[in-house]
Amino acid sequence: MNTIQTYIQDNKKRFLNELIELLKIPSVSADSAYKKDVLLTADFVLSSLKKAGCDNVEMCETPGYPIIYGEKIIDSKLPTVLVYGHYDVQPADPIELWTSPPFEPVIKNTDIHPEGAIFARGACDDKGQMYMHVKALEYMTSTGNLPCNVKFMIEGEEEVGSESLAWFVPKNKEKLANDVILISDTGMIANDIPSITTGLRGLSYVEVEITGPNRDLHSGLYGGAVANPINILTKMIASLHDEDNHITIPGFYDNVEELSKEERKEMSKAPFSLDKYKGALKINAVHGEKGYTTNERNSIRPTLDVNGIWGGYTGEGAKTVIASKAFAKISMRLVPNQNWKNITDLFKKHFESIAPKSVTVKVTPHHGGQGYVTPIDNIAYKAASKAYETSFGKTPIPQRSGGSIPIVALFEQELKSKTILMGFGLDSDAIHSPNEHFGIWNYLKGIETIPYFYKYFTKMHLDK
Ligand code: BES
Ligand code: MN
Ligand code: MN
Repeated sequence: MNTIQTYIQDNKKRFLNELIELLKIPSVSADSAYKKDVLLTADFVLSSLKKAGCDNVEMCETPGYPIIYGEKIIDSKLPTVLVYGHYDVQPADPIELWTSPPFEPVIKNTDIHPEGAIFARGACDDKGQMYMHVKALEYMTSTGNLPCNVKFMIEGEEEVGSESLAWFVPKNKEKLANDVILISDTGMIANDIPSITTGLRGLSYVEVEITGPNRDLHSGLYGGAVANPINILTKMIASLHDEDNHITIPGFYDNVEELSKEERKEMSKAPFSLDKYKGALKINAVHGEKGYTTNERNSIRPTLDVNGIWGGYTGEGAKTVIASKAFAKISMRLVPNQNWKNITDLFKKHFESIAPKSVTVKVTPHHGGQGYVTPIDNIAYKAASKAYETSFGKTPIPQRSGGSIPIVALFEQELKSKTILMGFGLDSDAIHSPNEHFGIWNYLKGIETIPYFYKYFTKMHLDK
């Protein structure tokens, strides 16, 4: 065993227990009822960075939740890695579908994680993955194995759009100056098929409100004679896709980058079983845009999905009513080159234009962000690839993901540096869903792989 493996073996129990303590704090950024807990989590991150050997650890106040910054600068001639992660988590609802309480972490075995997985909200997204970096740093500082400078920037609003970070980054360019940004907030294909995420989709998130009559009406007295906002809304939403599942908003695909035949062929080499995919989700068939494979549909193609829809009577029993209003929350996943603000405008214009005279429409944009593609011909990718080869014994496969980390495009714009996405979660880890978990093997493998990245990146940077 080499030094990192020995270190992990010797400290495994403590690494797990510390993560469990972090997972006990319900840092739900979307719900103000958890404000105190989000702030307690910031304190936890702050002190863990100090303990791991960071200098100048600060709680950076923002208009929203604080950003935790820390650094270890050993030599200005050496490269600097900026680690980004988030300490906030998604709401745990629907809570009744959890097999153990979301903020009482427990270790259970699963088919995919025979060595156990920690079940808790945030286990994989992103507390577990963020904390791997803290423990990797602890190893490097305490054993004299830190080969370069490092900065940490951990935020508490990723799950609600990173508004405060977008405010913070342009103001602190010098402080955040770096040679590469390192993030573990994505996944990989499987424990025996390591992969590096090379793309993230952009996002435009909007809310729509359809108003019909000025009050809820008796559905017998008025039904058939006035517009029912729920009927209208669902019809409008249905019209946003055609029979081939293309999105019908004019101009929506204008800037979508079409991949070449060669690139698509390269993509299709990634191991994938449609039967396993369907089996894991208990669906009889997949669904999506005509002319594209499942892996293409969920990575290189843009989408439009209703995330929530409500209106009228949804309580027990039946109430005969035509609601005055109907609502929906809609997300559009975008691909690089699609401008999210432009897409939001196109959506708004189109949605307003397709409403019949009998109702009024209000479209309220929420948050959004640009997609991102990471290069695979730079030293960051090469160093990461070599790091996985060392710890997994296999060359990782580059793979574009369907998820979004909108702040990554802003990092590039403001800090002029590229990001490398070394994610160790699996799709089956149920992030954002009930029973989220993170494999213990994955957690420890991440801690093992990260120091190799530092080592190879530094070497390649100095050899450049
Ligand atoms: N970590 C995820 C994004 C992710 C997960 C990317 C897996 C790739 C693979 C992140 O925390 C997240 O949930 N992002 C949101 C967007 C945000 C603006 C709320 C998303 O993708 O829905
Ligand atoms: Mn995340
Ligand atoms: Mn998330």
